Amino acid sequence: MSAARPSATRRTVLRGAAVTPVAGLGLAACSAPGGGTTADATPTAPVDLGADSEVAEGGAKLYREHNVVVSRSAGGVLKAYSTICTHAGCPINKLQGTTLVCPCHGSEFDALTGKVVQSPATEPLNELPVKSASGRIVAGPGA
Ligand code: FES
Repeated sequence: MSAARPSATRRTVLRGAAVTPVAGLGLAACSAPGGGTTADATPTAPVDLGADSEVAEGGAKLYREHNVVVSRSAGGVLKAYSTICTHAGCPINKLQGTTLVCPCHGSEFDALTGKVVQSPATEPLNELPVKSASGRIVAGPGA
């Protein structure tokens, strides 16, 4: 007569476990909190980014793994900027021509000047020291 009891007990346990992981779906795609700002940082020392010839005059190159963009003016002057967005700290992962586009809220920056060309960001990108040495581009503090 008591044969039905064990299965009733097990069902109760399973139902209890299944309730937990439902909350919090829609928020993960956007906002930065928990989204990895600890790993996403600008160099704190000079980094070798690669061949000098990779950045053409009037052009720019995004070095995603270092969160740096390097551009060269029409006159040949190199500039480097942190690509950590000044709006809410997302790493910028897209370069269209010489325009950087932030994936989080759509801010855009000019890679030649660091200036904002599309809000919501209002502050320019943080400029970094950069130089060309022995055919290599080196950027970051102390470069
Ligand atoms: Fe908001 Fe870049 S973090 S636009």
